[in-house]
Amino acid sequence: MISRETIDEVMNRVDIVDVISDFVTLKRSGQNYKALSPFNNEKTPSFFVVPSKGIFKDFSSGKGGNAINFVMEHEGMSYPEAIRFLAKKYGVEIKEEAVSAEVEEQQSEREGLYILMGFARDFYRQSLWETEEGKSIGLSYFRERGFNDRTIEKFELGYALEGWTHLMDEAVGKSYNPDLLLKAGLVVKNDEGRMYDRFRGRVIFPVHNLSGKVIAFGARMLGKDKNQPKYINSPETEIYHKSDALYGLFQGRNAVRQKDNCFLVEGYTDVISMHQADVENVVASSGTALTEAQIKLIRRFTENVTVLFDGDAAGVRAALRGIDMILKGGLNVKVVLLPDEEDPDSYSRKVGTTKFHEFLATHAQDFISFKAGLYSAEAGHDPIKKAESIKEIVGSIALIPDPVKRSVYIQETSQQLKIGEPVLLTELNKLLVQERKRKEREREGAETVRQVDESAQLAEQLSVPAAGAIAVKDMIYYQERETIRLLLNYAEHALEDQKLAEFLMHELEDVPFTNASFGEIYHLFRSRLQEGQITDSHYLMENGSEEVRKIVTELITPRYAISPHWKEKYEIHYPEEPEILHDLALTNVLRLKFRVVQGMMEDNLLKIREAEKAGQWENVEKHLEQQEGLKRAERELASYLGIVVAK
Ligand code: UTP
Ligand code: MN
Repeated sequence: MISRETIDEVMNRVDIVDVISDFVTLKRSGQNYKALSPFNNEKTPSFFVVPSKGIFKDFSSGKGGNAINFVMEHEGMSYPEAIRFLAKKYGVEIKEEAVSAEVEEQQSEREGLYILMGFARDFYRQSLWETEEGKSIGLSYFRERGFNDRTIEKFELGYALEGWTHLMDEAVGKSYNPDLLLKAGLVVKNDEGRMYDRFRGRVIFPVHNLSGKVIAFGARMLGKDKNQPKYINSPETEIYHKSDALYGLFQGRNAVRQKDNCFLVEGYTDVISMHQADVENVVASSGTALTEAQIKLIRRFTENVTVLFDGDAAGVRAALRGIDMILKGGLNVKVVLLPDEEDPDSYSRKVGTTKFHEFLATHAQDFISFKAGLYSAEAGHDPIKKAESIKEIVGSIALIPDPVKRSVYIQETSQQLKIGEPVLLTELNKLLVQERKRKEREREGAETVRQVDESAQLAEQLSVPAAGAIAVKDMIYYQERETIRLLLNYAEHALEDQKLAEFLMHELEDVPFTNASFGEIYHLFRSRLQEGQITDSHYLMENGSEEVRKIVTELITPRYAISPHWKEKYEIHYPEEPEILHDLALTNVLRLKFRVVQGMMEDNLLKIREAEKAGQWENVEKHLEQQEGLKRAERELASYLGIVVAK
């Protein structure tokens, strides 16, 4: 266990801005700093660092704390791992105290795996540079591919000798534990229990994590044996999760940050050749689509990705789906289509550094317009194909989280394809509402069988706001309306020991209505109730304003309460409303409060931004604190409602 003394020493030395800057691009904002949340996809910054207090707060995810908490959250480290990490960064010597055997074992296993992988990397390098076989086969292969010695060193490339047990023998000779060799995936055990090296007679590409430690290897065969896989890769291990790693990010991270762009290619050799052509801001996805974790990883360094496509049409079509994921991750995507039959590796070597740079600069095209061009060319004048291609393109636009970007794309696509914006917008809104419904169902699950899906219903009623998802304000409107509907229809119904009207009046005492007419009706009910009078729809129809009369008519029509459409569609049995009035009233109150709190959070966030702009730091802090309080309230209400909100 790390001693208290060490922890205190680390705490004394850390500078939260310095620590977080290693992972997030912070922008100065008066005495504080802000950035896009590294934990969530967002378009306006809600991640704040307050150096005077040594803390960060992330309003999009609710995470917050000191530098150690940040490292834990961001790097997925345990507390001791984070302390060690920071101790190393600040040159603090770690003093240990006795630890439990179990913890020690676990820690030393990860540690052991890193050490073993480092050993293997060195062994493969040595085999490449210093053995006859390595030089004549491995090294000459790399040189034939045009890699120079500096590049080979930079990527720590190596060679695995022919033969079954070279690595294993060397490792065991150096007292490495054979079990650990298996766990690291360096050695394989066959059915008879015989152990042998996984990589044999192949050139070796080490995969690094962000701190430069080797976590896996890719091993390429030499020659063209059709019966063998071209690459053999390390299996998943305690320290290697394929879906979280990106080849080349360690070597390219600084360039990615500086250029504020990341090229995405398919393979190890593409990354390496691009480095040789002086394009260092490049990563490879190992031949598969990017995962969410990998997209997040890129977002730590930039929001812009440029995907390089090999110049064959089939490949492009296959790769388009993968790009949808990147759009959904909130990154801006450009594409570069390479000439026929070329990949980044072959083409950069063919034309040389200068021409390659020029080509990338002049051929980068926005992804959406690229896709639109591709599909419309294919569709030609065939109306059915044309309709399908519109759906395809709008499908991609719908994935972009930022509504402003979405509407810009709609405009541009409209011009490019010569199709009216309204057509595209209608399609877009349809998709957005579908997605919204899907999410809502997912979130609320089967538990809410009797609850009418409010956003879907709302979307059906309002003619869907253009190019936007449903705003909190609309949700509040809906919930206020539901309150009034319950009052109008069931004011006198008994809920356990009180009447529904009494219950609502009591619960919503300090909740202001945003809609004037709903507010008017509510207050009328209330003041009359205080005088012991009952208000019903007849009274309102006779005494209310025109607007009020309209609302009342609408809300007392039973058709509104239960949508047969929903019943059919989801085969849901709706109990009659009076049977479930108690739940209905309670849920409505909670939901209204929930939405009101969310609305307050939105307003408050705006105030934070304004105060920041004006440099009113005391106000910033005040609102930051209020935001935390609201977030707590939101979470509490959500937990009553069984809704999951971001932590
Ligand atoms: P490529 O076949 O394009 O590989 O596969 P490459 O790295 O460019 O190799 P060269 O140019 O033929 O030498 C792209 C990526 O897909 C993964 C590897 O990560 C490779 O870099 N891959 C491919 C495998 O994991 N296994 C395979 O058998 C093939
Ligand atoms: Mn290749």
